[in-house]
Formats: sequence, structure tokens, C-alpha cells
Amino acid sequence: MTAFGVYGITPAEIKLVEQSTKRWERENCMGRAKHLKFDEIGYWSEIKLDIVKDYASAYSRILTAQTNPTLHHKYIDAFAGAGVHVSKETGAYVPGSPVNALLVKPAFREYHLVDIDRQKVALLRELTKERKDVQIHEGDCNRILLEKVFPNVRWEQYRRGLCLLDPYGLHLNWKVIETAGNMGTIDIFLNFPVADINRNVLWRHPEGVDPGDLKRMNEFWGDDSWRQIAYTTKRDLFGHLEKEENEVVAEGFRQRLLKVAGFKHVPEPLPMRNTKGATVYFLFLASQKPTAEHIITDIFNKYRQRGAK
Ligand SMILES: C[S@@+](CC[C@H](N)C(=O)[O-])C[C@H]1O[C@@H](n2cnc3c(N)ncnc32)[C@H](O)[C@@H]1O
Repeated sequence: MTAFGVYGITPAEIKLVEQSTKRWERENCMGRAKHLKFDEIGYWSEIKLDIVKDYASAYSRILTAQTNPTLHHKYIDAFAGAGVHVSKETGAYVPGSPVNALLVKPAFREYHLVDIDRQKVALLRELTKERKDVQIHEGDCNRILLEKVFPNVRWEQYRRGLCLLDPYGLHLNWKVIETAGNMGTIDIFLNFPVADINRNVLWRHPEGVDPGDLKRMNEFWGDDSWRQIAYTTKRDLFGHLEKEENEVVAEGFRQRLLKVAGFKHVPEPLPMRNTKGATVYFLFLASQKPTAEHIITDIFNKYRQRGAK
């Protein structure tokens, strides 16, 4: 379990989350059909949660302190999950990204939590029912962000947003990323799902790739320019195309965040690994502000040395 108590999140608050979760499970999860399958999360997912929590705390502190003009800052969790996970290591409940953000002090002015899974949304509603500052959206975040959430984070309204884009795989549409960048008001945390990409798209025999997976890749990347970046012009002894290292693909995507989406500061992402040390995804932070780059670089460096576990 992560170090609760830092950044103002108290053990008592975490206890309340646990109690609400257990009560909700008792009341709502009778019978198999109704059972919510909590995500089981490992060491690196807990690190991700700590990183997002550390950054969200710094972000909220800075934005709250700003006067002249006063800014209205929102936390947006696009793939929010149930709000609670189960630790693979200990079996204990672990607060997910939306709960961590809700416990940040000073609080964000408004929270938007989106998930497509009805059961997870039901638990999110239970955990946040006392909070007037939370809006829960059930459905596809690619639509909900563009239609309902981002239009109310405009510069001229003095609004700002921190948006977490944390899909399991290639389930995000580039339009969301590009809109956030072009608006100039939204910082994004982005899970760049290199394991899904390698497993389903970047094959040495690209002609065998499922058209559905190619579509997901093009939608995530924004076009098919990844083909020039992800493969070298070399072929191996058998004439197969050679794939570039994961870091090259991630760097290609970083350049798109800067040059196409228009974020001004996108530091090198942090590779997030599995128990065998293989990179599962890269965690990016993209912002318009140099301060954001300094803060996240310090946070990433703190965790970079951790290695596999
Ligand atoms: C990796 S989990 C999110 C974990 C969460 N960010 C955390 O760290 O606590 C991904 C979530 O995305 C949800 N999801 C998948 N596709 C979605 C979509 N198109 N729109 C919104 N949510 C989606 C899944 O139900 C799942 O809860």
C-alpha cells in the first residue's frame, strides 16, 4: 500500500473509502451477474497512482494560490475506473486515481470522472455521493470529453484542467489529445500503451495485422505516420521488417504532442514496467507551462530508479 498521510491524505479518509466500498459490495454485489470485478493492480500501477497524486497535489496548490486572475481548476479522469482497486501484493483495497484526486488538499474546484463500465460508475457514485463538486459521466470518454467536459475549460472563462488519460490499451482518440493541446488550458497525463501496440500492431509481418487493430492505432496516433517511425528501413536475414526500440516509438509520439497537439512542454516519459522489467506503457505529462515540466521531472526522477519488483 502506498504511503497515505503524505500530501494531506489521512489514514482516516482511506478507512472511510474502504468502509464505503465494503458496504457497497455487500448491498450491491449479490449474485454473480452483479459482482464488480475489482482491477488487481501491481507495484508499477501503485507507482503510477503515487506519481499522479504527487503532481495533482502540486498542481492544485499552485492553481489555488493564483490570484489576479483567480483560476477555476478542474480534475478530469477520463478512464476513471471504480475508484478502488485491489493490491496484487497484499489483497488490500487501494484507492484509485479519482479517489486520490478527491482527497488532494487544497481540493480542485470541480471533478469530472468518466468510465464506460456501469458497475464501476455505480461504485464511483457511491464513493462520491457526499461531494457536490463531483460530476460522474457514464460512457465513452472520447465523446464525453469533447462534447461535455472540455468545452467548459476555456481560457476566457479562467478555467484550467488536469486530465488523466489512462486507458488499458489503444482506446483513446487522438482528437481528445489534440483538443486538449490546442485549448491551451489543459495538462494531460497520458498512458502510451506500448505493450498493446507491440502485441497487436507492430508485427514484423505487418500485412497480417487485424484491420480493427490498425484502426485503433491510427485513431490513437491521429494518422498512420507511426509506420515511418516504428520500422527501420532495414530487413533482417529473412526479409522481415525490423521494428525500432520502444523508446523510438515513444519519442515519435512525444514529437507529435509538441508539434501537432501544440503542448509546449513534454518531458521524456517514464517507462512503466511489469514484474519482468518489460515496459508496459510510457507515462507522459504534457503541459503549456515550464513549471509543470520541472515538477514532473523531479517526480519522475524520484521513481525512475525504482526498477522492477
Ligand atoms: C486502467 S483503468 C483506469 C485506472 C484508473 N485511472 C486508476 O489509476 O485508478 C481503465 C478504465 O477505463 C475504462 N474504459 C475503457 N474504455 C473506456 C472508454 N472508451 N471511455 C471511458 N472509460 C473507458 C475501463 O472500464 C477501466 O475502468
